[in-house]
Amino acid sequence: MSQTRLLIASVTVVPLLLAGCEVGPKQTTQTGYRGTGIDQVVNPKLVKAQVPIPANVYATPDDSGPRASETYKNVQVLGGASTERFNHLMAQMNNWVAPQTGKDPNEVGCNYCHNPNNMASDEKYTKVVARRMIQMTQNINANYTQHVQGTGVTCWTCHRGNAVPQYKWATAAPAKSMGFAEVNTGQNHPSPSAAYASLPSDPFSAYLKDDGVNNIRVASSMPLPSSNHVVSVKEAEKTYGLMMHLSSGLGVNCTYCHNTASFRAWNMSSPQRAVAWYGLRMVAKTNAEYMTPLASVFPAVHPGGGDSPWRKGPMGDTYKINCATCHQGVNKPMNGVSMRADNPLLWPAGGLVATTAALVAPKADPNATAASCNADFDKALLGKTVEFDTGAATIRSTSAPLLDSLVQVAGRCSNFKMAVEGHTDAVGDAASNLKLSQARADAVDKYLAERGVAATQLSAQGFGSSRPLDSSGTPAGNQKNRRIEVTVAAK
Ligand code: HEC
Ligand code: HEC
Ligand code: HEC
Ligand code: HEC
Repeated sequence: MSQTRLLIASVTVVPLLLAGCEVGPKQTTQTGYRGTGIDQVVNPKLVKAQVPIPANVYATPDDSGPRASETYKNVQVLGGASTERFNHLMAQMNNWVAPQTGKDPNEVGCNYCHNPNNMASDEKYTKVVARRMIQMTQNINANYTQHVQGTGVTCWTCHRGNAVPQYKWATAAPAKSMGFAEVNTGQNHPSPSAAYASLPSDPFSAYLKDDGVNNIRVASSMPLPSSNHVVSVKEAEKTYGLMMHLSSGLGVNCTYCHNTASFRAWNMSSPQRAVAWYGLRMVAKTNAEYMTPLASVFPAVHPGGGDSPWRKGPMGDTYKINCATCHQGVNKPMNGVSMRADNPLLWPAGGLVATTAALVAPKADPNATAASCNADFDKALLGKTVEFDTGAATIRSTSAPLLDSLVQVAGRCSNFKMAVEGHTDAVGDAASNLKLSQARADAVDKYLAERGVAATQLSAQGFGSSRPLDSSGTPAGNQKNRRIEVTVAAK
């Protein structure tokens, strides 16, 4: 009570000083370990409302019937899909990228990409772009699960009903110097890219364009300058510009990812910082592989005349993606809603090509015991399924998050020897079951080793159907028997 009165009193006396403060309810979410100050304080009233996700146009058809490649003439990416599913995706794309707005019928709906008299023709650039965008979306969903998890993305994630997404970037025109400064490296030009801070106004070209970002290391590991670590202030300012974008793009503060005791130290950072690290690589590579090469396809001037540049930035490059393109001010795009179930064509099966080396090789925990490690592996695996393609040892991309959690346990337990075991059910030929179980155990072993678990600590063995958990022979029993286990041996 007395506090409230105090506040009101001060408002009347010094209203200007209080203008930057927000009175009102606050919500606190802890993102890091307890006691590290890694948490978020938000005013729920200021959380950005998200545009409602459009409903599925109609129930997604199954994958039976003639293939799209048999029905149509010029289907280069989705030819393997059933015609019905293909048509469904077209209708969805229509809604996500080019919805009917009642304006010029040549510009919206199917006609945004197609000549209605010849659907197979590639005469409209928008169709050529869309074909590449389908591949880009599939690639993000299949190969960047360390970032997008099983949630993934569709065209809607970026486009939200607009032909050109609201949040994007292109190389900025060189800023004119003001005052005495000859060269200002883009500083003192308030720009939304760097959240209007006095930092370089184009933090993106340096980090989000090329084929892979170098690890950003501007903070020194030493208290005093040393010859091992020479980074200019200019470099650091660029990094800070980028970090302002990370924060504003996700609608979070620095402490969502960092512990302010050390911005550098990974072991003090939140798990979200690791997701962000993969995000930086995903964005740079996607721009390099998909967006930049579209420069020859996007017209620089409006076909109907008018102001140029049109679909390109001031320096003539295509618009590219950054964190805000998908996130649009929230920590999980669309608050984590996945559109996967309705749009299976955008999640190609079996494409686990992820080879990004482990971010931080997990550290051995000196207090771990064989028993605690076995319990941790059980906890990570029990009731979950490592999914493989039917009859093959190709791990499905949907299982990447599960396997990544195993990497963490394996890292803590790397003072012990670990055996990855593959088991099958008793259906089918025993010899091929044995072979398959070995191949699957090997695949998991390889996955762990690629992400920094010492290969010398690991072994893999297939047991076929020789060690069933359930001998009932029922489908549920068989399901239980098809499994991956990890056993830790005492030292
Ligand atoms: C955002 C752009 C876009 C929109 C909107 C769009 N399409 Fe397409 N359409 C494509 C692309 C790209 C392909 C080629 C896909 C491939 O190569 O795998 C295609 C191919 C087709 C084909 C195959 C033509 C052939 O013979 O090769 C048909 C049929 C088709 N679309 C129908 C539609 C219909 C109907 C709509 C409206 C409900 C629509 N499309 C909306 C981009 C679009
Ligand atoms: C990761 C974000 C992202 C995703 C996912 C995405 N797009 Fe795009 N798309 C962009 C950006 C950015 C541009 C603008 C490029 C430019 O104008 O230079 C664009 C442009 C386009 C254009 C050109 C529009 C015009 O009027 O010039 C079409 C068509 C398109 N996208 C279709 C699609 C389709 C279809 C999908 C889903 C299969 C998709 N996009 C998924 C980011 C995305
Ligand atoms: C969404 C997570 C996230 C947010 C929010 C974030 N950062 Fe970062 N930060 C990272 C990641 C990831 C790296 C490492 C990038 C790399 O190596 O490619 C990094 C690196 C840094 C570095 C360089 C560390 C070194 O080793 O030299 C500094 C300094 C930094 N951030 C400061 C900030 C500041 C200041 C803010 C708030 C304005 C901020 N960060 C917000 C994820 C984040
Ligand atoms: C292609 C779209 C896309 C782009 C671009 C993108 N993200 Fe994400 N990001 C996602 C999706 C989808 C998720 C949600 C995964 C889930 O449901 O757990 C996510 C999750 C995250 C998370 C974890 C959130 C949490 O609370 O667990 C962080 C942190 C993050 N992104 C940071 C970034 C940063 C930083 C960038 C830019 C360098 C970026 N993202 C660019 C799609 C994207």
